[in-house]
Amino acid sequence: MHSLKMLAAAAALAVAGTQATELELPPCLEPFRPFVYSGCFQDLRDPSVLQWRTPLDQQSMTEEICMATCKGNGFRYAGLTYYGVCYCGQTVKGPQIDDSMCNYPCTGNNSQTCGGDSILSVFTDPTFLPVDEVTIEDYDHIGCWTDDSRLGRALSYDMEIDSSTFTTEECLAACRSEGYPFAGTEFGGECWCGSVIANDTRAAPESECNMPCNGDGTQTCGGPGRLNLYVADELKSLEPCGYQPPVVPRVSSESALVSSQPAVSTTPLVVTTPTPTSSLCVSTQTVQPTCEYKCGNWCSKPIPTWSDIPSCKAAYSNCKLQVASCFKSAGWPGSLGCFGFSLWCSSLERYCSTTSRGGSKSSYCEKSPPNNPEPPKTIITITTTCAPAATLTRISTSTKPTTSATICPIPTPSNICKQPTSKKYNFSPSNPVGGIDMPIVTCNDLSTDHPRNPFKLYASPDTRKCKSFARNQTPSACAAACKEQYEDCIEVYAETCRRGGKGPKSRAVIELEVRTVWFGEDYHTATTRCNVQYDDCLAVNRGVSGSGKCTEFGRGPW
Ligand SMILES: *[C@@H]1O[C@H](CO)[C@@H](O)[C@H](O)[C@H]1NC(C)=O
Ligand SMILES: *[C@@H]1O[C@H](CO)[C@@H](O)[C@H](O)[C@H]1NC(C)=O
Repeated sequence: MHSLKMLAAAAALAVAGTQATELELPPCLEPFRPFVYSGCFQDLRDPSVLQWRTPLDQQSMTEEICMATCKGNGFRYAGLTYYGVCYCGQTVKGPQIDDSMCNYPCTGNNSQTCGGDSILSVFTDPTFLPVDEVTIEDYDHIGCWTDDSRLGRALSYDMEIDSSTFTTEECLAACRSEGYPFAGTEFGGECWCGSVIANDTRAAPESECNMPCNGDGTQTCGGPGRLNLYVADELKSLEPCGYQPPVVPRVSSESALVSSQPAVSTTPLVVTTPTPTSSLCVSTQTVQPTCEYKCGNWCSKPIPTWSDIPSCKAAYSNCKLQVASCFKSAGWPGSLGCFGFSLWCSSLERYCSTTSRGGSKSSYCEKSPPNNPEPPKTIITITTTCAPAATLTRISTSTKPTTSATICPIPTPSNICKQPTSKKYNFSPSNPVGGIDMPIVTCNDLSTDHPRNPFKLYASPDTRKCKSFARNQTPSACAAACKEQYEDCIEVYAETCRRGGKGPKSRAVIELEVRTVWFGEDYHTATTRCNVQYDDCLAVNRGVSGSGKCTEFGRGPW
């Protein structure tokens, strides 16, 4: 009898070792897209159907409580079992069985079903991409972070990987197969995964992640109490807790894009006529071209139209913040067109400041036509969840109030990170290697994320996919920007040099207003300069502080 009890206790301990047992983050209290019922699953226990058994009160459980908890903690699945036990998980393990086997009423609402005995009713958050589309290449290194076990682990799930042959790739593959967006290597041979990073985790100097990986001495696998942290945004919800659909200005449907109303300074990307139903908005939209400017595989987000100087400058900012995503995603040789895009944005800035009242978009585009644009699309109907009106932010310099126009503010493209200088290797802020500027780190443009993470690295055309950073993480934000620049330097500049400066559309020399990019260097010299610039970039940005910047949403950056 006694020994049986001990056995059970030991088994429970072993499970606790691989599972978080505490409530990590609070439930999501804001409206979110409802989870979808996905079936009834049998729990074979080892492994269990869903990874995390929440510590929630079992006596008053409902579907809503369980889903809000899973949503708040970044999980893809929510599951209910045995009248009121709530689980969350990133993968579902175990056989699906007939729906009729899920027949226990929930303790908190007996018209809902809470699985059965060792049987779970499983629901899916529909705002995730399929796991199959994600590879370990999608995990980006975001620096060295603390993992203080006294305060709880930074990442909750310990992947038991053979420590003696441990490599970074092995850990990333383990976290990916379990569907976790965060992965961390520690102490040369530990692998941790998680859906969220625990509350008390802090960025640490890179020098503190100094232990070689046991299975590959050329890689670093954290340090004592320090994690090399990786994140795959593709494994996170596209609409995390607090997400608000971007940009919903309202104009009467007849007026469509050519508004009969007084000129609106911050002109919409999309014109909508929302008809609120309970929590859904049905809207009819006229969509401007999805590709205002096209380079290779990359397509710019349309820049807003404008009618005066402030809105012209907002359009310029919108343009400039997209340059990094062009270099990142266009693919060689299309990426050579990004120099042209960058130049196009710069000429827009000049146009804003020299033309009286900032001119208008149509006259600018006539003078300086965009490259390979797409024609505007016609009207489509979409259904979205409504953002709560009280939290919508409004910026408009127009004196006459229009209808309830709301738009995400566009931050000024001034970088809080510094481009390094080297005389020997010939680079400086006005002359980065290969003419490729650092991606911009500036104020976060999403109101819900801004309080926690005031900064954002603009390296994707979809602002929701851009990484955001807390105030004390500015060195990591800049380190990530340095890395993006380095990758572009190798993939665009050095690659062109390797091919002898010849791309189908490029000339060996691309002249920009302020600099001439010469692709005549040999590949080895080009990669060396990219490398040196990267190292120097990390060094000059180690002490960068965001203090005093982006303190208020919609203002700034300074
Ligand atoms: C973070 O931890 C502190 C105490 O350490 C706690 O007061 C706070 O609620 C936690 N925040 C979240 C989001 O869990
Ligand atoms: C109980 O659940 C049913 C079905 O999901 C729902 O329609 C009803 O509003 C719930 N009742 C309460 C009090 O939440």
